Amino acid sequence: MPPRKTAIVSVSIIFLLFVGGNLANKKKNEEVQKKCDTCRELAKSFKEGMERTARYNFAGGDTDWEEKKLGKYSTSETRLIEIVEQVCSKDKYECNTMLEHNEETLETWWTEHQTDHPDLVQWFCIDTLTICCPDNTYGPDCQECPGGIERPCKGNGKCSGGGTRAGTGKCKCNGGYKGELCDVCKNGFFTEMSNETHTVCTACDDSCAATCTKGGPTGCKKCKGGYNMVEEKGCQDIDECNQEKPPCQSSEFCQNSPGSYKCVECNMACDQCIGEGPDSCVKCKTGFQMIDTTCKDIDECETDETCKKEHMFCKNVPGSFLCECEEGYLQSADGCVPKSILEGKDILPDPSLSLKDGDAPPAAETDQEADSTTTKGGEADNISDESLRRETGENKSNTEEQNDSVDTNSLRAEEMESMEQHHEEL
Ligand SMILES: *[C@@H]1O[C@H](CO)[C@@H](O)[C@H](O)[C@H]1NC(C)=O
Ligand SMILES: *[C@@H]1O[C@H](CO)[C@@H](O)[C@H](O)[C@H]1NC(C)=O
Ligand SMILES: *[C@@H]1O[C@H](CO)[C@@H](O)[C@H](O)[C@H]1NC(C)=O
Ligand SMILES: *[C@@H]1O[C@H](CO)[C@@H](O)[C@H](O)[C@H]1NC(C)=O
Repeated sequence: MPPRKTAIVSVSIIFLLFVGGNLANKKKNEEVQKKCDTCRELAKSFKEGMERTARYNFAGGDTDWEEKKLGKYSTSETRLIEIVEQVCSKDKYECNTMLEHNEETLETWWTEHQTDHPDLVQWFCIDTLTICCPDNTYGPDCQECPGGIERPCKGNGKCSGGGTRAGTGKCKCNGGYKGELCDVCKNGFFTEMSNETHTVCTACDDSCAATCTKGGPTGCKKCKGGYNMVEEKGCQDIDECNQEKPPCQSSEFCQNSPGSYKCVECNMACDQCIGEGPDSCVKCKTGFQMIDTTCKDIDECETDETCKKEHMFCKNVPGSFLCECEEGYLQSADGCVPKSILEGKDILPDPSLSLKDGDAPPAAETDQEADSTTTKGGEADNISDESLRRETGENKSNTEEQNDSVDTNSLRAEEMESMEQHHEEL
């Protein structure tokens, strides 16, 4: 093998050993942690069993008989069995396995060490099974956690493996803290107080970019996007909506928020608006009129002349109106003609034919009525859109426009959302 390849291979092997070793270590640590937890639970449950059975001591009956026959109940085999029977609940597999493997050890404690080593966790889990360590110590030799047994990790974190024979003892710091002893404030936090034993880190104000010297907007070293540094007041929200050049389109209204803003689509009745709802319009859309500060739909059918053809009637819809045929009639170039005349010919009814731009008819209704009302396509192609349409000066094909507007709306909403998220993240 050429030396270069050898080098690469050996580096890879070392790397794999390193990663593999770390993984194996991690797994072992987790196992020990779990075993220690099981042991502590078992010991606790055993002690509870002792308290439970303590009452039986002078309970009379069988116990009395046993005391005479077998000696003192408090240290009797009978009591031990009673305790052990209930020490693990049936569904606790780990507990039952540990109990099974260590019944004799527990019996030894019961008969020999109950008085000289009353702490069962210490005697059983720490000294005998050697899977646990005293609180705030870790590793095979139960070393002290960094920062000492009293307040390991300065009280701002957890010592890896603490209380078990496993772990590295490294401090895992709580939010806002870092450093080997968790006594340094993370970016975005400031030192609220600090003395020899205690460090308190507190989050900077929301308006700060990363670091600060104290709490509140005046503590920021730099402002986050969407905020301006104002003398004596610190970082203040920029009201994007009140800027010289408004950030929203004319069919939207602007909503300011801390560090950001939102453009929200106006109500369908509004051409321009200052808020949600038809009562916040500045101008009404065509087909709507301002009545008592609210844009209300105009009932075009009250004045309409276009639908006044035989067997045709006018139907008002928000912002517009439809010319529809009576039941049994279909629309054609000549107005409404009996269905029977058009039957057999390839005619597909198009319910949106006489709809004004952007106004989708209620789907269920039109589906139902399509048959007898508006038609388009085939021979009816020649129908004059103009005659069925109110004179709005808008010429685009209805269906296309509807599609377009829906598409751009949803697109814009998505863009908005992601922009907002971006803003907030910043
Ligand atoms: C450090 O601060 C803590 C919390 O305020 C306090 O309890 C402790 O007595 C202080 N220690 C010293 C040495 O000043
Ligand atoms: C539409 O009308 C024109 C004349 O105005 C006629 O030549 C044409 O055949 C008609 N088309 C249909 C589909 O009826
Ligand atoms: C609508 O169409 C007519 C003729 O097709 C045209 O003269 C008019 O300018 C169009 N109006 C608009 C707003 O596009
Ligand atoms: C509407 O748009 C969809 C896809 O966005 C397209 O499949 C459909 O053909 C369009 N309909 C019309 C009438 O343009």
